[in-house]
Amino acid sequence: MPVEILTTNPLHRTAEEKLPAHFTVHKLHEAPEPAAFLAEIGGRVRGAATGSADEKLLAYLPNLEIIANPGVGYDGIDVEACASRGIRVTNTPDVLNDAVAEITIGLMVALSRRLVAADRHVREGRWAFGTYPLTGELTGKTVGIVGLGRIGKEIAVRCQAMKMRVIYFGRHRQPHQPYVYYSELVDMARDSDWLVVIAPGGAATSGIVSRPVMQALGPQGSLVNMARGSLVEEPAMVEMLASGALGGAALDVFENEPAVPAALLEMDNVVLSPHQGSATGKTRDAMGDLVVANLLAHFEGRPLLTPVV
Ligand code: 8YV
Repeated sequence: MPVEILTTNPLHRTAEEKLPAHFTVHKLHEAPEPAAFLAEIGGRVRGAATGSADEKLLAYLPNLEIIANPGVGYDGIDVEACASRGIRVTNTPDVLNDAVAEITIGLMVALSRRLVAADRHVREGRWAFGTYPLTGELTGKTVGIVGLGRIGKEIAVRCQAMKMRVIYFGRHRQPHQPYVYYSELVDMARDSDWLVVIAPGGAATSGIVSRPVMQALGPQGSLVNMARGSLVEEPAMVEMLASGALGGAALDVFENEPAVPAALLEMDNVVLSPHQGSATGKTRDAMGDLVVANLLAHFEGRPLLTPVV
């Protein structure tokens, strides 16, 4: 009998295609009555491919052995509860580094050169009636990276290619990195023209990009959030962007996705992206493959490829 696994949302294409060849896949998101569905199949489920697993879901799954998270960030999984129950957790690191770093630079250029509004200017036939206003540029500016992890490092080298000066904030100084380290985020924000947020979500980083940090970044500063909405005090950010206390923002993530604060939709000093960091065909295929590979490794008794717990 194939091992029974649970999914809670549609997965990346390769995972959707490959999992049924190895497992019996139960799709919670297709169940008309989720609670009844879980009560019926929960006891048989030994694996899950999901990015959201709280105590409530785990309670339905007494025989769960492993959760393969289809992303690098695993803030949607109660990792402590999993650890205490001996449930393994995996994620999808590294395969998405380049895609996320690439779009980060794209959003920075889009914000500094006002590309989205410029495109609208041409499409709406306004070019013939006036030249487009002058913009800023990245060259020579200082970028402060919040979280110099795997993705942060890829962003850093690309920022250097844009002739920017790179500095970083994180839990620890990384002695082998060539960039200046700040142990206080507010100090780094004061010295930065751009603040790029690419640290993990979760309780430890909740609200670290606070009002004082954004004040330190200031009216000439730009905030780029590629991490999770939870890291930024969103109401303060919206208010400061509206008043000019914060210069601009390029945002790929939000506090209550897919909801976006209505005020942001009216602002020209903001570029908005619908959580697209890793969303290329190539990268999502690789992420899906890693989900499948981790589940197979576990159930075939081999070491996990990318364990978190
Ligand atoms: C997607 C992400 O949300 O990997 C992450 O942590 O934020 C994104 O890549 C994820 O892949 C959704 O499945």
